[in-house]
Amino acid sequence: MTLFRERRGNSMLELTGKTAIITGASRGIGKAIAMKLASLGADIAFLHFMDSENAAKTEQELSALGVRAKGYECNVADFEATATAINQVIEDFGEVHILVNNAGIVRDNLILKMTEADFDAVLSVNLKGAFNMIKNLYPHFMKKRRGRIINIASIVGINGNAGQANYASAKAGMIGLTKSVAKELGARNVTVNAIAPGFIHTDMTDGMPEKAREAALAAIPLKRAGEVEDIANLAAFLASDEAAYITGEVIKVDGGMAI
Ligand code: NAI
Repeated sequence: MTLFRERRGNSMLELTGKTAIITGASRGIGKAIAMKLASLGADIAFLHFMDSENAAKTEQELSALGVRAKGYECNVADFEATATAINQVIEDFGEVHILVNNAGIVRDNLILKMTEADFDAVLSVNLKGAFNMIKNLYPHFMKKRRGRIINIASIVGINGNAGQANYASAKAGMIGLTKSVAKELGARNVTVNAIAPGFIHTDMTDGMPEKAREAALAAIPLKRAGEVEDIANLAAFLASDEAAYITGEVIKVDGGMAI
């Protein structure tokens, strides 16, 4: 190993020659991650669901960065659909190096009012969706003896949150999934990490009641909502060669909200 012997004036992450699959990248955090990885040279295959107009725009914006980019309509909660989409991506792009499990939904309610359907829907997309993607892609990673998996969890999966029993359960499950798969796939040179965002400015949080938004902002030491780029920057680092020795970690990007 060479130990920082060369001075590089412009130290920058590099993902040229890598392909990433990102779920839920038609908008929000997933789109920002796709744009960031593409800006570093990665080709991007992304999944979206019932959001074709935004997906077409995202595909255009990614292509404008000079990389290969293609969107695939796929419900991550559907095991067979994820298998089909992943096989299609491998056929279209060749090797896949990076998986980002970002697709997520909320169905918030106090447990008193939360329906069984609300609970199942959130677990199916947020948690089982990540399992489906990992399960169907890992034979490819094993064969290639390398891979990066980045799961987008939430600080709510660490601390819990009133009104989000379903979402917090799914995100806590994702953290358990991250650590377990990191232990299983380490010997195959596959790293698995989770990012736990706090309160990030997106369509998802724009849909929150004003009072809940104010309460969330008041609890942030840095006194602002995070931007999607704050999450994308960490995802890019975790996907890069620089992060080769980090696995099984859950890294909060929350302006100090969950200290
Ligand atoms: P968003 O609602 O703006 O975007 C969600 C994306 O997931 C969209 O592209 C949508 O098409 C896709 N999606 C939804 N259901 C899907 C399904 N069944 N199959 C495939 N794709 C599906 O959400 P946002 O805010 O960008 O969140 C992205 C991730 O970050 C989610 O996992 C969310 O839980 C997590 N997160 C967000 C925070 C925030 O403050 N916005 C905080 C903590 C975590």
